Amino acid sequence: SKVEINLGEEFPEGKCVTMKWRGKPLFVRHRTAEEIDREQKVDISKLRDPQHDSDRVKRPEWLVLIGVCTHLGCVPIANQGDFGGYYCPCHGSHFDCSGRVRKGPAPRNLEVPYYEFPEDDLLVVG
Ligand code: FES
Repeated sequence: SKVEINLGEEFPEGKCVTMKWRGKPLFVRHRTAEEIDREQKVDISKLRDPQHDSDRVKRPEWLVLIGVCTHLGCVPIANQGDFGGYYCPCHGSHFDCSGRVRKGPAPRNLEVPYYEFPEDDLLVVG
């Protein structure tokens, strides 16, 4: 099944939402210019799961993630932790605004699902 998310005026810059998709939490974030700039500049050689931001997003302003911690499956909290992205309270994993693990026990970055933008203001996941 697919889920459609309207990216119009009701989804301004800075907003994060959590939805359900295939029984899992789905995070969608309208990233700010500062967040985009910061994530694009990260030195990926220092990352546990090295991935460039541009390989994790299709359009820089939209971050789409499966909201399941890659450690033991808890749901991370948006806008918390040391890297401005997500924080998993179960055992303290910190993720950045690209969903990459930066600290704590999570072995991998948060998963990016398949998605597309059939129209400018429409995101379809799945
Ligand atoms: Fe997220 Fe353990 S389940 S840190």
